[in-house]
Amino acid sequence: MRMYDLIVKKKRGEALSAEEIGFIVEGFTKGEIPVEQMSAWLMAVWFQGMDNEETSSLTMAMLRSGDTVDLSDIPGIKVDKHSTGGVGDKTTLIVAPIAAACGCVVAKMSGRGLGHTGGTLDKLESIPGFRTELSEKKFRENVKKYGLSVIGQSAELAPADKLMYALRDVTGSVDSIPLIASSIMSKKLAAGSDAILLDVTVGSGAFMKMKSEAVELAQTMVDIGESAGRRTVALITNMDAPLGRAVGNSIEVKEAVEVLKGGGPADLREVSLALAADMIYLSEKGGRKACRKMAESVLEDGSAYKKLLEMVEAQGGNISYLEDTSRFPKASVEETLVAERECYLGGMDAEKIGIASMQLGAGREKLGDTLDMAAGIYLHKKTGDFVRKGEPYITLYANDETRLPAAKATLQKAVFWEDEKPECMGEVLARV
Ligand code: URA
Repeated sequence: MRMYDLIVKKKRGEALSAEEIGFIVEGFTKGEIPVEQMSAWLMAVWFQGMDNEETSSLTMAMLRSGDTVDLSDIPGIKVDKHSTGGVGDKTTLIVAPIAAACGCVVAKMSGRGLGHTGGTLDKLESIPGFRTELSEKKFRENVKKYGLSVIGQSAELAPADKLMYALRDVTGSVDSIPLIASSIMSKKLAAGSDAILLDVTVGSGAFMKMKSEAVELAQTMVDIGESAGRRTVALITNMDAPLGRAVGNSIEVKEAVEVLKGGGPADLREVSLALAADMIYLSEKGGRKACRKMAESVLEDGSAYKKLLEMVEAQGGNISYLEDTSRFPKASVEETLVAERECYLGGMDAEKIGIASMQLGAGREKLGDTLDMAAGIYLHKKTGDFVRKGEPYITLYANDETRLPAAKATLQKAVFWEDEKPECMGEVLARV
């Protein structure tokens, strides 16, 4: 088999066999296929797409490239949750404790943020002492004891994806449904849970800008999960504006704690409850309505909040910061933007808000950049809100004042004003 022939075959729109796809993934992971050929092949996939069989073969080939986690010694149905990425998305910090408080078993491996999207690991690491790297033994012990642990993804899981993602990132081939679906599902299948809940985001802050594309991505991933013998469900959620009002790291942890204490923004609470209810459902705790009620009741009686405290303490985190969130270090500079006229906030570009947060130091432009845990953005107003002249709509936080002007310029382009109240979409748009 020659890589050259396989590039040409895909360029012509022909389907590749499982053997051919296996040859490509294995050859690239071993360093036998050079980056220029792999880049050309990825771009051919971007233009020509892949059918379901090819996408499944690609997922399985990436899965075979590394280790897989065996969670079978941990009693119960192990359930995982994955978001395709967004801005202000702190749902794992809320959903995982809700599910665990309802008796689900959540052994979760999360990722870091890159570019405009945030990552759960970075947010958790803003809690002083919290360790996202645990030995496998400790991770399993914690999952058995508390029903919940969230750690960083091992580099040994689906290493082919890591190499391919880095190449896609610099060659403009990230936003392809078969490539995203196989990238996510190879890691989820390798992580060993029995059931997988996918949060497929759609809108200005998501990879998928159109609902139809998000549904197609969701269906592709659900098909891959089900054909690998894992119960898989996807919710399509709105990422046209950041989720909640906080964007950053410690500022998002504070907001997650507010929701777990029964308050917090309505959109964040709703998406979290919907995701948690489906995780509880996938764990076979009851019908969908009963699962939603269970999720609401552990939020109301404080047991989900206690679960978060248990998990944070078990991973070395100082829970006094969660018990009193005013203890988190404050940013040394802040600036509040105020409305120039009386009107409605007509819409937001969530991706630009994520970029502004990165410009303030809360996110990484490239792998390895150091984060400022106190940097970030607070949205006083969201789409559909009325603002009076002079009223605050956004506050920026940073520890380096030279970062403010660029972030401010980005934010000014991220908010649209209207005289009429705009129509707002719901938070959960569909289930696949
Ligand atoms: N997240 C992933 O893990 N992979 C992609 O390709 C896109 C988002």
